[in-house]
Amino acid sequence: MYRDLASAVEGLVSGESDAIANMANAAAVIYETLPDVNWVGFYRNVNGELVLGPFQGRPACIRMKFGEGVCGVAAESRQVQRVEDVHAFPGHIACDSASNSEIVVPLMREGEVLGVLDIDSPKRARFTEEDEAGVVKLGEILSRVL
Ligand code: SME
Repeated sequence: MYRDLASAVEGLVSGESDAIANMANAAAVIYETLPDVNWVGFYRNVNGELVLGPFQGRPACIRMKFGEGVCGVAAESRQVQRVEDVHAFPGHIACDSASNSEIVVPLMREGEVLGVLDIDSPKRARFTEEDEAGVVKLGEILSRVL
């Protein structure tokens, strides 16, 4: 499934240099493809703060500082955050009360954090190591076109 999803994302973004268009289509195809997800979207690094970008799902919090929430920890540490139970994550920011687990992948280019890709699920421990590998690959594709 992640192989197909990577090809779909690659197809949607190849040849397009507009970052917003690419994030919008990527959020849509990921949201449509992955089962049991209720939010898929981007936060962009705007002057050292994470600002909401294109997404699918319920309206979300607009700004987060580096180090704040799961997204902020991913951006600050530059490490994937795969959280089995968001309610047990110190500082988690609840945007949709339906979310129970979450994966956040930092998007890096040339040593810089461009932003993060955030995927939420109403299911506890929805994201496995296999999901992590798949989402990291999507992040690599997207980092080249943001
Ligand atoms: N839960 C996230 C906030 C963003 S939303 O879930 C869309 C966090 O703690 O980083």
